[in-house]
Amino acid sequence: MFPPHLIARKRDGHALSGAEIEAFVSGATDGSWADYQLSAMLMAIFWRGMTAEETAAYTTAMMRSGLVADLSAIPGKKADKHSTGGVGDKVSLHLAPMVAACGVAVPMISGRGLGHSGGTLDKLESIPGFRVNLPLADYRRQVAEIGLCLIGQTAELAPADKKLYALRDVTATVECVPLICGSILAKKLAEGIDVLVLDVKFGRGAFMKDAAAARRLAVAMVRVARAMGTPTRAVLTAMEEPLGRAVGNAVEVAESIDCLKGRGPADTMAVTYALGEQMLCLAGAATSQAEARAQLARSIAEGSALKKFREMVAAQGGDPSVVETPSRLPQARWQVPLLAGAAGFVQDVDAMGVALATLRLGAGRKKAEDAVDPAVGVSGLCKIGESVSAGAVLALIHANDEPALADARALLAKAIIVGANPGQAVPLIGEIID
Ligand code: URA
Repeated sequence: MFPPHLIARKRDGHALSGAEIEAFVSGATDGSWADYQLSAMLMAIFWRGMTAEETAAYTTAMMRSGLVADLSAIPGKKADKHSTGGVGDKVSLHLAPMVAACGVAVPMISGRGLGHSGGTLDKLESIPGFRVNLPLADYRRQVAEIGLCLIGQTAELAPADKKLYALRDVTATVECVPLICGSILAKKLAEGIDVLVLDVKFGRGAFMKDAAAARRLAVAMVRVARAMGTPTRAVLTAMEEPLGRAVGNAVEVAESIDCLKGRGPADTMAVTYALGEQMLCLAGAATSQAEARAQLARSIAEGSALKKFREMVAAQGGDPSVVETPSRLPQARWQVPLLAGAAGFVQDVDAMGVALATLRLGAGRKKAEDAVDPAVGVSGLCKIGESVSAGAVLALIHANDEPALADARALLAKAIIVGANPGQAVPLIGEIID
């Protein structure tokens, strides 16, 4: 189990044994492998890949590097969903209370935004007072009491991933299917869930730029999670234009509250229902997608999902009055519209371009230790295919800094194309990998 020997074996294309993978992951957890040895192994894995058996052993070792929450005393199946990340993806914020309102508990450990993609924790923290750093005991109690808790990764859960993800981020080894699979599943399966639904995104605003690469990742994750005993399905969804009309933190919370009030954008709700249906079906709370959809729709129509969201905000120290009065969320100093120069159709809204604009405003972080500005971002974003008149608002820019506002405006003007013919949006919901 000498590190240079194991690195050489992977470098030369051999499959590592379970014990060898365990030695590598323990070396990351207990510090017995130096950062340069861990990084060399990550790069060897990046180039040589891992077999299905190695990926399962790696994921198991990553999960067991810390605590695995035990929620078995809470009656019923516990379900979670994970998205591989995109632009404007606020689905967790309203989907979790919708599913909980249908009687399936959702214990969710989420991440922060990094680079172009936003993070659920940053969005939640824009609610004044909201705490995402709860100890595991409080997390367990809240799931038992209200069926819903959204927190951040604790030091106790999958600590090897914390170490290895930080190294991958700075050694160009993030885009690797077995490493992504181990990283995501180790955290999700340590939450104490019974079933998992994955939203694997593809397109300009996603990690995986094409559907084939997203499918490979989805198949690997479904296979490994199932081999580890957790029924899992993946839904492939497009991320060419931002999801919904808001990108940022507080602006996305406001849009999620709209979704819970039955006023959500069509694309956001389509993804929400597609994922929620799979969660309810896998958890055994519905026998068909149609039945699941009807339950989810009822949770919105009857207000039970909104009530659940309010309960969660209050339980985690947040100001629940943002539900009735979203203007209590942080507001930026300037709200400046970007106007259409001429009448026509929205031909394109480049998710990556919009993400860069919101990053420039301060809504995201370039390095893990950066702070985010909860108030800035973009709302009222137009959608591909819409017709616009001259002078119509294509987007409303929320800014706290004048040079950033000017740069963001230029980036948005490049990302949004208005022309004579309507653009063709890529179908949003793709294959379901079961
Ligand atoms: N998100 C994670 O948590 N891990 C990865 O490897 C990629 C995305």
